[in-house]
Amino acid sequence: MNFDVLIIGAGLAGLATALRFPENIKIALIAKQTLDISASHWAQGGVAGVIDNNDRFELHEQDTISAGAGLCNEQVVRHVIKNSKDSIQWLIDQGVEFTKSNDNQSLHLTKEGGHSLHRIAHVKDFTGKAIQEALIKEIKIKKNITIFENHSAVDLILLRKIDPKSKENACLGAYILDKNNDSIKTLSAKYTVLATGGTSKAYLYTTNPPVSTGDGVAMAWRAGCKISNMEFIQFHPTCLFHPMERSFLISETIRGEGGILKLPNGEPFMHKYHPSGDLAPRDIVARAIDNEMKQRGLENVFLDISMLDENFIQKRFPSIYQHCKNLKIDITKEPIPVVPAAHYSCGGVKTDLNAETSLHNLYAIGETACTGLHGANRLASNSLLECLVFSKSAVEHIYSKIPEQSDHSPLPDWDESRVTNPDEAVMILQTWNELRRFMWNYVGIVRTNQRLNRAYERIEILKKEVQHFYKNFHITSDLIELRNLLQVSELIVLSALARKESRGLHFSKDYPEKNDEAIDTMLQLDNEIN
Ligand code: SIN
Repeated sequence: MNFDVLIIGAGLAGLATALRFPENIKIALIAKQTLDISASHWAQGGVAGVIDNNDRFELHEQDTISAGAGLCNEQVVRHVIKNSKDSIQWLIDQGVEFTKSNDNQSLHLTKEGGHSLHRIAHVKDFTGKAIQEALIKEIKIKKNITIFENHSAVDLILLRKIDPKSKENACLGAYILDKNNDSIKTLSAKYTVLATGGTSKAYLYTTNPPVSTGDGVAMAWRAGCKISNMEFIQFHPTCLFHPMERSFLISETIRGEGGILKLPNGEPFMHKYHPSGDLAPRDIVARAIDNEMKQRGLENVFLDISMLDENFIQKRFPSIYQHCKNLKIDITKEPIPVVPAAHYSCGGVKTDLNAETSLHNLYAIGETACTGLHGANRLASNSLLECLVFSKSAVEHIYSKIPEQSDHSPLPDWDESRVTNPDEAVMILQTWNELRRFMWNYVGIVRTNQRLNRAYERIEILKKEVQHFYKNFHITSDLIELRNLLQVSELIVLSALARKESRGLHFSKDYPEKNDEAIDTMLQLDNEIN
């Protein structure tokens, strides 16, 4: 169980990182469930990039920075966008077949909110699935990659815990729960990469799969890493509203191709909120829908694409068409009922241009990280791009350092000598439901100090209860996830309370204006807030 690199998470960030290493590097790849379950797999929109001859780096940069509301790191934005075309080419080289334009010569590029041009490469409306399937095929034939499916990371192993006299701290690997037989493995690694995705399962309504429980951010926080901008949770404006299907995304590319948001009486409303109407930045569209729903007492609004040609809709959006059809909604003939839902965490573990965190030998990539690309609001389809660019940067950095790094002496195994089997599993379910409901109601699209403080008090009580469970009972994957969700929820609330303004995705009724100066929120254990 000694590896050069341990990669925790098997979405695009994890798979791209694993594949980019040369085959002399011994890699462990951890997937919480099977390799085909990740938020990347569910991504519909695409990968943004400067490909079209009419497009320019500066235009994509401007769109990214303007969505980010003053908090993008411009050096990072330039780095990512400069590498966008190569990243898309890398996917093509791995076997991803992007949708072509009508002449079959070039890629078909689509548009989403906040983009000034068509620049999103996509595979119909199932880009993430197509990418993941191609990469999984490649991963499975790599001899240097050991895949651990149905394994959950419990915590990072820290030098300072093992050797309290050590002057420096560093990550030495992780304890990993093998869910196939409920045992805990000790994986030692010269370098560890967190690629565990986002935190949206902290909310009642989300477009994310069940695995998005903020594990990487929570582990990094406990290890003492800097965590940044957690208050910026992106709510996607259009999640399908249906009693049988709570988490199905209705891609923004539907609006990119002409779809219009409407009230139940058929009246469009987005032009009242922004000159770009239905293609306004996502925060504005989500707040507009929230406002219309609250003012009019609606359960949902509608997204109408039925005015477009039926064949075009079926060809361009085959999976949305089929999914809705299975639920007896014919999107070629009737509008789709939609609501906003938690979609993406812009904040995360603070990283630099090499994807390195503030802890030695620990990297974070993708939604787990806060690179500075997204600022206070992510531009659509910039996130798969970010995974691709930072996986390359991290691999180059790690590979250049590997020869200097010696193997660790054997690490202590997980101690389960003082725990018993849990007798109250119902408590975990109850706490989980309670947390997700009050995060939705108190820490959602529109926030107030009172709601945030109430959420904070509840989280502290629940954290104590769950900590008791964690210390006294055998670890289960539900318990790991709940503990992590409580931790990231606390970070979201603390960051939201620290921001005394409204900016990007964070809107507070108590501070509705934007401050003149844009400052990142930075948290580190010991409650240090900078
Ligand atoms: C979408 O297809 O609407 C989602 C794209 C994204 O979140 O980047």
